[in-house]
Amino acid sequence: MDSVRSPAPPHVQFENVHMAFDDRVVHRSLSCSFARGRISVILGGSGSGKSTLLRLIGGLVRPDAGRILVGSSDVTQLSEAELFDVRTGLGMLFQHGALLDSLTVFDNLALPLRERALGSEAEIAERVREQLSSVGLDGVETLLPGQLSGGMLRRAALARAMILRPEILLCDEPFSGLDPISLRRIESLLAAINQRSGTTLLVVSHHIASTFRLADQVVLLLPGRSVSGTPRDLATSSDPEVAGFFDEGSPTQSPLLTDGASRRMDT
Ligand SMILES: Nc1ncnc2c1ncn2[C@@H]1O[C@H](COP(=O)(O)OP(=O)(O)O)[C@@H](O)[C@H]1O
Ligand SMILES: [Mg+2]
Repeated sequence: MDSVRSPAPPHVQFENVHMAFDDRVVHRSLSCSFARGRISVILGGSGSGKSTLLRLIGGLVRPDAGRILVGSSDVTQLSEAELFDVRTGLGMLFQHGALLDSLTVFDNLALPLRERALGSEAEIAERVREQLSSVGLDGVETLLPGQLSGGMLRRAALARAMILRPEILLCDEPFSGLDPISLRRIESLLAAINQRSGTTLLVVSHHIASTFRLADQVVLLLPGRSVSGTPRDLATSSDPEVAGFFDEGSPTQSPLLTDGASRRMDT
């Protein structure tokens, strides 16, 4: 997508963000931005702070210093009540705890609508059904999450993340643990959400082939710095640390370097 889309203004911006857990520094003066209405993929080694970056955007953790702008709001300065409003515009598809095990799929999706009193029960039911249908999950309303397959569960979690029609969707490793068919299905759904609704997507992923099919922009987290660019920019970088990451992250080099080939790859 990098070759066909024009640049867009930032939707989320990190400015000199410092984040440490006790003496473990995760982000050191991190500055990067994520374009409005585009798909950004966040890459980095294990422990490089990818999940923390998403949690910082949602105000689930607070940095030690720096600004994090979501639209025009600096989320580092907001009260819990103000953060609740910001989170209404943020869909989160996180690795763990996406759906509550004790609630039916229907009640899981209805929960954010009921919490905000968004419509009558009949309107909520209609919206839940529509949302489930949009991810190819008709007729699973009365099932418990434990009764769904892994791929269906991930799609149900995606439907839940989108139920409030957020402007921004944060996805933490949405492809992990999926078989190739389920993976491609989630990938297509993410692309469709972005294309139909103009939703800004931030996707943390280790999956290099998906990254090259989906991403307009890549932000690579390296020790002490970040590097941003199109997938092609990064794949062809002369920076040894960037190149080293892609060598390690990819079983074969060629799909990274030829867009057409990468988009046809199945896994
Ligand atoms: N709540 C926390 N308390 C203490 N350390 C944490 C916490 N969350 C993350 N960390 C540490 O911060 C570092 C970055 O974590 P994370 O953002 O999960 O990395 P990634 O998602 O890139 O694997 C890791 O060393 C991790 O152990
Ligand atoms: Mg993580």
